[in-house]
Amino acid sequence: MEHIPVLLQPVLDMALGLEQPVHTYMDGTFGRGGHYQALLEQFPEMTSVVIDQDLEAVVFAEKKFGDRIEGGSLKVLHGSFHDYEGLKNSDPELKNKTFDFILIDLGVSSPQLDNPERGFSFYHNGPLDMRMNTTAGLRAQDIINTWTEDALKDLFFNYGEVHRPGRVVAEVLQKRKDTPFTTTRQLASLIEKVEGWRKKGQHPATRYFLALRIEVNKELEPLEAALEMLVQQLKNGGRLVVLTFHSLEDRIVKLKFKSMQDIGFPVNKKVIQAAWNEKKSNSRARSAKLRAFQKGEKDHE
Ligand SMILES: C[S@@+](CC[C@H](N)C(=O)[O-])C[C@H]1O[C@@H](n2cnc3c(N)ncnc32)[C@H](O)[C@@H]1O
Repeated sequence: MEHIPVLLQPVLDMALGLEQPVHTYMDGTFGRGGHYQALLEQFPEMTSVVIDQDLEAVVFAEKKFGDRIEGGSLKVLHGSFHDYEGLKNSDPELKNKTFDFILIDLGVSSPQLDNPERGFSFYHNGPLDMRMNTTAGLRAQDIINTWTEDALKDLFFNYGEVHRPGRVVAEVLQKRKDTPFTTTRQLASLIEKVEGWRKKGQHPATRYFLALRIEVNKELEPLEAALEMLVQQLKNGGRLVVLTFHSLEDRIVKLKFKSMQDIGFPVNKKVIQAAWNEKKSNSRARSAKLRAFQKGEKDHE
């Protein structure tokens, strides 16, 4: 399925609400460039640095926007936006670059979810992998097959917010003695059997898979520090917009934005969510939340 950019109009509104047009843009989670492309239509003169830790997204960007790369108005980087300082230090052109607008659209893209080979989905059978960056790091199966009982319970409790993961974990430990886990369906069907379908509308493996994905991709722990580092890359008056898809992420963003009042201010006091028609037409939009932070002082009229 094609990736539909979430909360597109509110993101554009945040960019249009700046005092100056966007000249320099950073997209920390390029995906398939839906937000990038829409911003480009509004600000055709902007120069951009786009990042994705998934090589497929980087290759897509290089193919689709090759002319802009050649023309010098686009730079595509492979890596995590958490490590932007490192990426910046290895490229002299980025050394003193600051941005009017930075967007972080967290989570997975539709092409990642839909490709069974990536191992994100419990509906499709594929390797139990879940790495966005397939060139490095632990796969979900490495965690499932090697972590201790307590470590797995903590993982599902803390990141999946599963209240009683004990029975599933005990069963995993029992099963992996004979047959290590290698596929998504192996794990999903074990969870279906142990948990049953208690919560209407949600597959019983949803929260277990989310917890594994968060751990495999280190989605939460480095986020707080990354937000502060990204604000440092903004020009005075520039904005950082973050889209989150679950409560743990949103909490980190909300608290961090509140705590940085000495360098700027949260633009929207109330979190922005998708309207019912967007939620209806795009399931990814249902849990999406937008928060924006502006660097510098508030204008007092
Ligand atoms: C929700 S999609 C972004 C979609 C994009 N805004 C669009 O409209 O096409 C998230 C993308 O961010 C990437 N990603 C997630 N966390 C990342 C991180 N820490 N650093 C770089 N890329 C990341 C994923 O690989 C995925 O391609």
